[in-house]
Formats: sequence, C-alpha cells, structure tokens
Amino acid sequence: MLKNNPEKPSKFSTDSAKDFQKQAEEIALQRANKPPVKIEPLSPDEKLLHLHNLQVQQIELELQNEELRRIQIDLEESRERYFELYNLAPVGYCSIAESGMIIEANLTLAMLLGVNKGSLDGKPLGNYIYQEDQNIYYLHRKLLFKTGEPQICEMRMLKKDGTKFWANMEAILVKQGNGPLACRTSISDITKRKEAEQLLKYAKDELELKVAERTSELATANAYLQSFANRMVQVLEEEKKGIARDLHDQVGQSLTVLNLMINQASRQKSEKANQTLAEAQKVISDLIGQIREISLNLRPSMLDDLGLLPALTWHIERYEKRTRIKVIFNHNGLERNFTRPIAETVYRVVQEALTNVARYAAVEEVQIDAWADNSHLTIMVKDSGRGFDPAKVAGTGSFGLRGMSERLFAVGGTFKVDSEPGSGTTLQAIIPLNEDSDCNNLPAK
Ligand SMILES: Nc1ncnc2c1ncn2[C@@H]1O[C@H](COP(=O)(O)OP(=O)(O)O)[C@@H](O)[C@H]1O
Ligand SMILES: [Mg+2]
Repeated sequence: MLKNNPEKPSKFSTDSAKDFQKQAEEIALQRANKPPVKIEPLSPDEKLLHLHNLQVQQIELELQNEELRRIQIDLEESRERYFELYNLAPVGYCSIAESGMIIEANLTLAMLLGVNKGSLDGKPLGNYIYQEDQNIYYLHRKLLFKTGEPQICEMRMLKKDGTKFWANMEAILVKQGNGPLACRTSISDITKRKEAEQLLKYAKDELELKVAERTSELATANAYLQSFANRMVQVLEEEKKGIARDLHDQVGQSLTVLNLMINQASRQKSEKANQTLAEAQKVISDLIGQIREISLNLRPSMLDDLGLLPALTWHIERYEKRTRIKVIFNHNGLERNFTRPIAETVYRVVQEALTNVARYAAVEEVQIDAWADNSHLTIMVKDSGRGFDPAKVAGTGSFGLRGMSERLFAVGGTFKVDSEPGSGTTLQAIIPLNEDSDCNNLPAK
C-alpha cells in the first residue's frame, strides 16, 4: 500500500549514487588541473606497500559505504512507520500554533473534514468548528496555552460540505525544536456515541415522566380511596348513632311506658295474674338494661360529650366489670380534643381489640399503651394469650381486624397485627397528627 502512495517520501536510489560519482569526477578533474605534485621515484617495495595501503583504504571505504546504505534503509523504514502511524492513525492529528493556524495535519483529519491533506496547512482550525460551539474551542485553546495542562473538550465540527459531526478534542502543549510552543491535538468523531447518549436521555426523560404521571395518578386514586373510606366510616357511625338513638328514645321509652302500665295493672288484678305480671315486669326491666347496653356499644354519647380519654376510661371500667379481665391502661397526651374521625377510630380500635381479647385470648390481663405527640398518635393493645396466625384470618369473613385496618386507612394511618399461636397478640395503630387533628384548631364553620 505504502509503495504506491504518492505521499510517501522518495526512496534513496542509484540516482544519488550517480550524483556522487559525477561530483567526484569533477573534483578529480579540478585537482588534475593543478600543478603536479613532485613525486619521488618509489622503490618496488615501496610501490607494493602503497598499493597494499590503497587496497585497504578502498575496502574500508566500501565497508563504510555499506554501513551508510544500511543506515539509509533503516531511516527509510522509520519514515514509513512514521507515515503510517501519523497519517493513517485512527484519529485525526494536527499541530496548531498559538494563533490557531494548523502547522501540520494528518491524513485522517483531512479525511474527517472532507478536504485534501495539504489544504489544511496554514488554515485556522476554527474554520471547521460549528458556529455555536466556537466558544468551547476558544476556551479550550486559551486554557491550554495559559495553564500548560492537557485539555479535553467535546463540540460540534463541520466538514467541508457543511455536514455537522460531534468531535472529541484532546490537546497537549509541545515545544517544536527551538520554535514557539504549539498544541498537538487529536480529534475523533464521537457522533455515534453522542447520538446513543441522546437516545438514552430521551428514554430516561420519558420514563421519568411516565413514573411521575403514574405516581400522581396513584396519589389521586389513593386520596380518593381514603376520602371514600372516610365517608364510609362516617356514614357507619351516623347509622349507629341513629339506631342507638332510636333504641334509647323510642324502644326504651315504649318499654318504660309498658312497664308502668303493667305496674298499674298489677295493683288491680287477681293474685295469679299479679304473679305473671311481676314476671313480665322483670323481663321488661332486663330488656331495658340490654337495650341501654346495646345503645351504648353502638354509640357512646360520652365520646361526643366528653371526648376521647373519658370515653375510653369509661369503656375500660365497664369492660373490666363485665369480663373480669384487668386492663392496664398507660396513656400520655390523650387529653387533647381530637377531631371526631380520630377519636372514633381510637375508640373503635380499643373497643374491638378488647372484645377480641375477651373472646379469644383466654387471659386475665391486657395492656393498652396510647400516646400522642405533635406528629403521631400510637395505640398498642397487647395480650399474652392464645395468639393466632394472622395470615389464616386474612381471607376469612371476619370483619373486626379488617374494620380496624380500614378505619386507620381512612384517617391516613397504619395498622399492624403481630400474633402467633401460643405467643399472644399485639395490635399497633398509628395515626398521623397535624395542626388540624384537634377540634380546637379547626376553623369555625
Ligand atoms: N387477641 C386475640 N387472641 C387470639 N385470637 C385472636 C385475637 N384477636 C383476634 N383473634 C383471632 O382472629 C380472628 C379474627 O378476628 P376478628 O377479625 O376480630 O373477627 P371476629 O372477632 O368476628 O372473629 C378471630 O376469630 C380469632 O381467631
Ligand atoms: Mg372481633
């Protein structure tokens, strides 16, 4: 390949040998024209010695000549290697003067820019930098000559035909012999890498956009579900309140009136009838008690009238009396006037948890820890009774634990059941609090 390349330097040839011969003949002629040096006649032995010396000198010259030819060949090979390494390197190379003019450029750079190799010499490299990226190139060169540190930059360059391409430029400062400083620059086409980076960036941006969209959709759906659950819980509480009121006001009053009527009748009728009426009166009294109990369980008016802590204390005292299970109640920060959804949630969680303990745990004692600070209200109900496997309960028709979990979701809280057969049960409910969690802080309606 190199042999046919027009750029390749001319080979040392027989032509130059002929030149030397011609020069030697001219010098010999000049010497011949000078007055002859007087030569003393030589003896035959002296002649023989001279001849021998001349022969030795000739051999010496031939050897020197041979050595010179070998050096010449080595030199040519080095030049070929240089040509190959420099001109045909996989990246473009050039030397640039501080003025920005190209001193020398290799073939690869010429091909990269779509020009003939020779046409780059003496031209400013800036001619081939894309207009918008001229500043990058300017700064790159300025820093190089100012700091003497190697510089790297990426920018868009232009081919002769105006085509743009992305280039990576790496430059170092070198001293050229005794001449001024110059920068030696390598330039490679990184368009493909840039395009891949761009594609990757588009894909990443798109993905981030989709994630953001989906997150906001989920947040909206979650907020909707939470407010829906909240409404459902409120509706349930209102229903319970209505039923409790009806039971207390209507059924309870009717029973009381009936009780009075029977009482009156018992004074007028016979002995036998009196006995039956007394029994009926007893049944009615029991019924009145039961209805009061049901009504209280459905909706303790205490919660509305006195607030969370008195309602809890009252419920716990009734529970202890009815079940004979001791309740250890530790609390802190519950004296506040919590909003209705929060107070109801706590009350219902404690109510349901205590009912479960009485029904399933088979214990004589249960512990409730409840505390509230500025950010959270936490309730833990702990028994060391029979325990159960929460995973087995999950899919069943039981509504107690599920109801607690849903109530907590409705107020933005979390609910956790920790239980194992034989190892007791701990329920934990956490409700986030903020400045709107207290009734006192709510704006007047
Ligand atoms: N403190 C507890 N100790 C032992 N088992 C419990 C306890 N709490 C709940 N369980 C078990 O979990 C099941 C589900 O409880 P729950 O959801 O309240 O429904 P229900 O009380 O209607 O059965 C109960 O049937 C019981 O087997
Ligand atoms: Mg239950």
